[in-house]
Amino acid sequence: MKITSICCIGAGYVGGPTMAMIAQKCPHIKVTVVDLNEDRINAWNDPDVNNIPIYEPGLSALVAETRGRNLFFTTEVEKGIDESQMIFISVNTPTKTYGLGKGMAADLKYIELCARQIAMVAKDDKIVVEKSTLPVRTAEAIQNILDNTGNGVQFQILSNPEFLAEGTAVEDLHNPDRVLIGGNPTPRGTQAINALVEIYANWVPKDRILTTNLWSSELSKLTANAYLAQRVSSINALSELCERTGADVNEVARAIGMDSRIGPKFLKASVGFGGSCFQKDILNLVYIAKSYGLNEVADYWEQVVIMNDHQKRRFANNIIQTLYNTVADKKITFLGWAFKKDTNDSRESAAINVADHLLHEKANIAVFDPKVRSKQVISDLQYLNEMELSELEKSVAVFEDPYQACEKAHAIAIMTEWDEFKNYDWKKIYDNMQKPAFIFDGRNLLDPEKMRAIGFIFSAVGSAR
Ligand code: UDX
Ligand code: ADP
Repeated sequence: MKITSICCIGAGYVGGPTMAMIAQKCPHIKVTVVDLNEDRINAWNDPDVNNIPIYEPGLSALVAETRGRNLFFTTEVEKGIDESQMIFISVNTPTKTYGLGKGMAADLKYIELCARQIAMVAKDDKIVVEKSTLPVRTAEAIQNILDNTGNGVQFQILSNPEFLAEGTAVEDLHNPDRVLIGGNPTPRGTQAINALVEIYANWVPKDRILTTNLWSSELSKLTANAYLAQRVSSINALSELCERTGADVNEVARAIGMDSRIGPKFLKASVGFGGSCFQKDILNLVYIAKSYGLNEVADYWEQVVIMNDHQKRRFANNIIQTLYNTVADKKITFLGWAFKKDTNDSRESAAINVADHLLHEKANIAVFDPKVRSKQVISDLQYLNEMELSELEKSVAVFEDPYQACEKAHAIAIMTEWDEFKNYDWKKIYDNMQKPAFIFDGRNLLDPEKMRAIGFIFSAVGSAR
């Protein structure tokens, strides 16, 4: 089957960039991205492509090239479904905040809603592709809903997990290490798999397109993220030991990373990993293992998240202790709020937890991030903190200018590794701060020698003091 029309439900960090790339590489396919969120769709359709809702290097150019040609953004979900042969589900699947599996299992209500909507609308056979990260065997649930609520049309379910990392999404989509497609090993299932393989084959070498059964594909996604997160927690665990013993975690990382069996990537000690995937995916894995009674397996992976929470708390405690055990009424400036550089996404960002901890100690927090807006910072904290909005707004100030954000601060915490932070006039920043002036480098971004030469009392995660 040759696909000429695709619909993607969900115009978020995954759906948006992925569909823009498919549209660019496959001019013969009409790609429609639908979302219930009207503001988001309007932003995707903003005549100025710099106003699209997601900041991602290279994305505006991709959208400028394809939008209106064969890429369309609309709130007309049903029409989008009806007119497409293949439907990608790319909606959010946050960790459940209520009921059974609270704090661990993925909340599948949005996925289920999509499945029901597809079943209701479809008048001809469709291929349904899971793109969102999902617990293993979700495809089975989707298949059940489609088969039992639909009007007799045939659905094939595929799992095609997304491996793009935010901040490098366009490059990752353009040149992926691999594309994974899981499906049913039946003749119709194989036909559906081949239809999706043909789409990716427009730009991805065939030997990088892996096909598996559905469950393997779903589990591989969780496993890949669990392995990556585990590397970060492992180096972060050692960062604490390094701080106590005088070893330098960057030197240790360099030394072990040169072992080709270990490799140099994902060995950067930090204030903790964030993002919408790592914690959620590990908790999913833990929940699945527990539900099969595999308690040791569950505990093993859960430790990765426990270590990450510990690292964030440790960073906040270090700030408090260093500032003579009190941060009450002191101005602490956060440089960076996004969970990593080159994205405006702050989901699960370490900055949120660290700020929350300091707010409980009555600190005043000043924030500067090149891409995250003030509204987002406040809503992130509101979600976690039980402070009244008015109280929160008194204690948290978001600045448009980094120098102003740092003015009269008692301390600066580097929370995101934005490149521009390296080029600031640090002497000027130092001169305008309260003395003694401290920097807590949660990303090992700045040169310790340079900072100390200016006069800062400098400490970075995992480095020798
Ligand atoms: C991740 C996976 O990399 C991607 O394949 C998957 O599709 C989605 O989840 P993402 O969350 O966008 O991508 O970013 P990633 O680059 O993996 O970083 C995750 C977090 O780990 C960030 O907060 C980052 O700062 C942190 N990190 C990463 C470290 O602290 N140290 C490192 O060495 C690497
Ligand atoms: P991700 O990082 O996985 O892309 P996002 O939260 O950025 O997650 O995007 C998911 C999008 O899916 C949101 O814009 C949300 O409005 C949309 N969405 C959720 N459920 C539905 C639905 N039933 N129909 C259409 N869009 C939906």
